[in-house]
Amino acid sequence: MNVLKTQVAIIGAGPSGLLLGQLLSKQGISNIILERVTGDYVLGRIRAGILEQGFVELVREAGAARRMDEEGEIHDGFEISVDGHRTHIDMKKLTGGDTVVCYGQVEITRDLMAARETAGLITYYEATDVALDNVKSASPSVRFRHDNEAYTLQCDYIAGCDGFHGVSRQTIPAHIRTEHERVYPFGWLGVLSETPPVSKELIYCKHQRGFALASKRSASRSRYYIQVPLSDKVEDWSDDAFWQELKKRLPPEAAAQLVTGPSIEKSIAPLRSFICEPMQYGNLFLVGDAAHIVPPTGAKGLNLAASDVAALYKVLVRVYQQGDKTCIKQYSEIALRRVWHGERFSWWMTNMLHNFTDMSAADMDGKTFARFMQSELSYYLASENGQKVIAEQYVGLSYEELAN
Ligand code: APR
Ligand code: PHB
Repeated sequence: MNVLKTQVAIIGAGPSGLLLGQLLSKQGISNIILERVTGDYVLGRIRAGILEQGFVELVREAGAARRMDEEGEIHDGFEISVDGHRTHIDMKKLTGGDTVVCYGQVEITRDLMAARETAGLITYYEATDVALDNVKSASPSVRFRHDNEAYTLQCDYIAGCDGFHGVSRQTIPAHIRTEHERVYPFGWLGVLSETPPVSKELIYCKHQRGFALASKRSASRSRYYIQVPLSDKVEDWSDDAFWQELKKRLPPEAAAQLVTGPSIEKSIAPLRSFICEPMQYGNLFLVGDAAHIVPPTGAKGLNLAASDVAALYKVLVRVYQQGDKTCIKQYSEIALRRVWHGERFSWWMTNMLHNFTDMSAADMDGKTFARFMQSELSYYLASENGQKVIAEQYVGLSYEELAN
């Protein structure tokens, strides 16, 4: 048995684990990351790419912002199209100056991995059979296997950054956890293509045929999505069929400019809202997708992971630099307050923008729900105050400080 020691054991090398690790080591707090798959596999996962200002600042503080600052595009606004009628949400004007940065999650992850390597920090990729022990005690540890050898990682704290399917959340006894969930009755079929985006800004489209989103990765790479029934399979959708359907849902002037091409990636993602409470158990902290999932409408997944990281970072810095362990119990409440706001926003946007007509929703038939949501959306889009409510949540609510 190999025995390792560190201050913070981090499970998972997704954006949450990598960002936390980088921030902690900048403050002299040692950490080791255990990741189930290879680095290339992690980078193969295609995810959203809209970064709130709070996230951008954390990446800068982590020392991994050079490429994001050079290549990321600042977005002052986005559009909402309702059956082809476009409304521009001018985030910058409506919020008094706030914007978001469009830069792919895969690129952020790549930059954080490179920064970790440059700093010589330890990551065990392809760590299997990860198991968390004694998380309620002052000396927790993590067992794992690597290259056919057994290891024990002794630590002070464990950050469970291992995503929705990880082991960390399951380590909290079931009777302690409350899990909230809404599984939506449709999915998003996404296509990545090496084609110039149809618009400089994102267009969220509500349409009788179903939701669509026009997004981008760069001036030459587009990312598009359409709402599809959960029963659809990717194989049912040729590239041509996808482009035809997308064109019908985009506003006509945008559809006329759509440049199509072969898909580089095509997949269907289910939509889910999920929250696990509490996010702390003894010396184990859940961070990011390990504790919560949002539907992608509103691009909050990565940003909520970042606000968890910010909260845990503040807690751990105070613990190690001031010797104050009483702040540990603040983590879950601080993180969850912001998580619930982001969850509510994502759920609300999902409800307003998707087509529920043929399905049951809440406690009413889909047709009734659809009419309520149509009215809700038109109410918010019709006034500056309504648009402000959308804009200030889209750019992201501010992070909460620890109480003294
Ligand atoms: N042991 C070690 N690592 C694990 C285990 C395990 N048992 N289970 C999962 N992992 C790893 C996964 O392989 C993955 O690389 O944990 C990592 C979790 O990464 P993400 O799922 O990307 O979660 P997170 O870092 O919280 O990032 C949140 O990613 O999923 C999106 O919408 C989400 O954008 C948000 C962001
Ligand atoms: C994306 O570019 O993949 C994306 C952007 C915004 C969203 C969801 C996904 O709301």
